[in-house]
Amino acid sequence: MEAPHRGGMLSRKMDEDAARYTSSSAFDKEIFEATVYVNAAHIKALEKLGVIKHEESAEALKVLRSLLRDRPEIPQTAEDIHIFIESLVSKAVPAVGEMLALGKSRNDAVVAAVKLEAKRRIYALMKRIFEAVEELLNRSMIERDTLFPVYTHLQKAAPATFGFVLQSYGVRLLRSVLALNAALDACEECPLGSAAVAGTSIPIDRRYIAETLGFKKISVNALEATASRDFLIGLLSALLQTCIVLSSFAEEMVLYSSEEFGVLSMPEEFSATSSIMPQKRNPVVAEIMRTKTAELLGLLTSVTLILTRQPSGYNLDLQQTTPKLWKAVEEVDESIKLLTKIVKSVEVVRTKALEACGPPTAAVEVANTLSMEKGVGFRTAHQIAAKISKSLASKTLDQERLNEIFREHGLEPLKIEEVLSMMDPVKAVSRYVVDGSANPVKVAEANLLLLSEVRSYKNDIQLRSKDLSDVLERLLG
Ligand code: ARG
Repeated sequence: MEAPHRGGMLSRKMDEDAARYTSSSAFDKEIFEATVYVNAAHIKALEKLGVIKHEESAEALKVLRSLLRDRPEIPQTAEDIHIFIESLVSKAVPAVGEMLALGKSRNDAVVAAVKLEAKRRIYALMKRIFEAVEELLNRSMIERDTLFPVYTHLQKAAPATFGFVLQSYGVRLLRSVLALNAALDACEECPLGSAAVAGTSIPIDRRYIAETLGFKKISVNALEATASRDFLIGLLSALLQTCIVLSSFAEEMVLYSSEEFGVLSMPEEFSATSSIMPQKRNPVVAEIMRTKTAELLGLLTSVTLILTRQPSGYNLDLQQTTPKLWKAVEEVDESIKLLTKIVKSVEVVRTKALEACGPPTAAVEVANTLSMEKGVGFRTAHQIAAKISKSLASKTLDQERLNEIFREHGLEPLKIEEVLSMMDPVKAVSRYVVDGSANPVKVAEANLLLLSEVRSYKNDIQLRSKDLSDVLERLLG
């Protein structure tokens, strides 16, 4: 493709391999629409400035509208989408094509397009995460009484409920949306008008352009605005945070659905089997989900290293950063979609889960009861409960052994039934009194609060996303 800007300084065409090697055409399709909008806003600003006539501007906007409709392929030998669009506008409305780069560089245009597109995609992803959070909390509500063990050091630690476990993931995912939202702030600064590096002598109305494209403010420093990609680190880090949550969830699904734990059953729709071992039921979706953190970290690492030791103005290295963001958003989006489906359909194997919660899993309740009701010091009570647990594990606990244990500490023995009842998982869970505990009543209360929080965040994002599409619709609808 003939580049409109090349003939002056460089008289020979670029080597074809070199052109392909340095071109961003292959991935600029990701910012196709956003770049069209950026050009539309600039054309309107040029018209406002009196540089192009109203009829010319209207003609050029018509061309841009047709690009949104037809989505022509960007030739691989074009340097990038910016040059491609300029050449198309030049062909159709030469008076506008001739002026399209006045006061605008690819350096400010590309960041504007990336930020605009990032907002659109992150809004869509946030909506998806909200759905997942709602699913987690709704299922948590349903399973608030379903006994389920919780672990520390991957050792059975206490009886809880499946609803309590699901809620913990809901809370974590909700936090990751807040991190994404905070990272989006940096995408609200419109760089247009910064031109290539130091601003421009063309008195372009930066605020007007920003508003036309739905940005909240204009960037402060042209050098920073054109060449900083720090906002990508913020977004990718927040996406990584989301992935870490997904990864823990997936790991738990893999573990708990294994025969050894056996407390969950992964639905067939999300399992595969072995091509040789007929007995296998493999939790393949969760396995892939678990590993996405590694892939995300790879993308973040890649962007980090591209940005490291960059001198301050634009360098073409920066071009290589943004495809990583689109890839990351896509990966998280797909994973979240599957998480939502799994949350909806995974089944608790109640007998196994109940068994795992049985004595001595609630051994701390023996110690707590001895302390609170029998006036025993907690350290002593803890030792008694430990001895009882050990004896239970070796299946040697009877009234005689219990009497010995209590007498070793100079205490009057309790009845074995009374001690076992302190470890009854249903009673133990209902005895939890503090807010944030696994007590079904507390879980339900917290779920209601969380659900209303989610609704209000969701509302806010829906409004912002609608505002943005309205603004763009007004620009080129
Ligand atoms: N394709 C480039 C990118 O994605 C656009 C900016 C190129 N600027 C330049 N001066 N060559 O970053």
